Amino acid sequence: MTGLMEQFLRGRSSSRSAMAPFLALDILNQATQREREGQNIVHMEVGEPGAATPALVREAVQEELARGRIGYTEALGRPSLRARIARHYRETYGVEVPPERVAVTIGSSGGFMLAFLAGFDAGARIGVQSPGYPAYRNIFDALGLEAVVIETNGASRHVVTAAMIEATHAEKPLDGLLLMSPANPTGTMMSPEDLQAVCAVCDRLGITFVSDEVYHGLTYGEPAETALKFSDRVIVANSFSKYYCMTGWRVGWLIVPEEFVRPIERLQQNLAISVPYLSQVAAEAAFDARDELQLIKAGYAANRNFLLNSLPQIGLSEFHPVDGAFYIYADVSRFTNDSLDFSRRMLDETGIAVTPGLDFDRNRGNSFIRLSFAGPERDMVEAVSRLGLWLPS
Ligand SMILES: Cc1ncc(COP(=O)(O)O)c(C=O)c1O
Repeated sequence: MTGLMEQFLRGRSSSRSAMAPFLALDILNQATQREREGQNIVHMEVGEPGAATPALVREAVQEELARGRIGYTEALGRPSLRARIARHYRETYGVEVPPERVAVTIGSSGGFMLAFLAGFDAGARIGVQSPGYPAYRNIFDALGLEAVVIETNGASRHVVTAAMIEATHAEKPLDGLLLMSPANPTGTMMSPEDLQAVCAVCDRLGITFVSDEVYHGLTYGEPAETALKFSDRVIVANSFSKYYCMTGWRVGWLIVPEEFVRPIERLQQNLAISVPYLSQVAAEAAFDARDELQLIKAGYAANRNFLLNSLPQIGLSEFHPVDGAFYIYADVSRFTNDSLDFSRRMLDETGIAVTPGLDFDRNRGNSFIRLSFAGPERDMVEAVSRLGLWLPS
């Protein structure tokens, strides 16, 4: 597209907003439209728990609401929530985090905006894994940051190693690195040794490491380790969206090195003033809802087992066995070389909504789809039965 044509199509909107769409959400729109028209849809496209917000959380919010005054809070979050998050690190990982280094954010998405703005100047080069979470690169585009893609593959469990980072940095220096474990869409997890080596190489090379830990709590073997265990130079992003089943409350947090606290506070003051008050009340209560949350997680584990066993029987046999999160990233190259068309046809002809791999990997994504198993078990059974009839044998 020529510059002029691009400008014409954009109208008066800025070039920084000309980012790629999030295809999972586009498919969700199409799926809900069909639902409104009366079609029965199985939702496996969005990365969101099917379960309700824990009862304890809703009760805490109702009590607060009855008191009535819902105001701004401190830009970095309510002190009691920041202290509760710090306690979570002590209890879960055995790591001491001073509450002053905790920033409460608008989901982890809001946290990334703050972290990237505070951590990097325009033009900075940041390593990201591919396949990976698409919004990272799209936010980079809007902020004038350069994504340096580090491709992973199934043979090496989709893990980014310290050696890969060192090799990428040697070609042209990186300013930052952004990795997630457990990862979206592959469900892969770094071993504590690999994570420690990544932290060490970033510290040695002066690379600011942002560790996305939003799927912590959702692991099916060993628990995930936090990067804070291995470095206090790291920025950690986390969220109440996934394990805590609170996507719609839009609340998450960052743990940042001391020198980032004041810059992040200034950014939050000016960009958002504060995170919604009631969502912070909800978040604090969520730490006490462990029994309910563990039951929900047991449901994901059962869905995972069911799909890992039954998908190969209907011809979907190429995927990583999912250490954590709630996704299966399946190779569909036997059936298509256009994952977007394949996902649309699947939705049209079976009513099953999945995300095309193109969302996660611009080069190889046409050979993959992502299935989310965060919904109810009956949906998993229904999906396998409909897909079994639809996929060519
Ligand atoms: C890896 C990863 N990070 C961050 C997010 C953002 O989630 P939220 O803004 O709800 O915390 C998502 C959502 O799907 C994700 O998959």
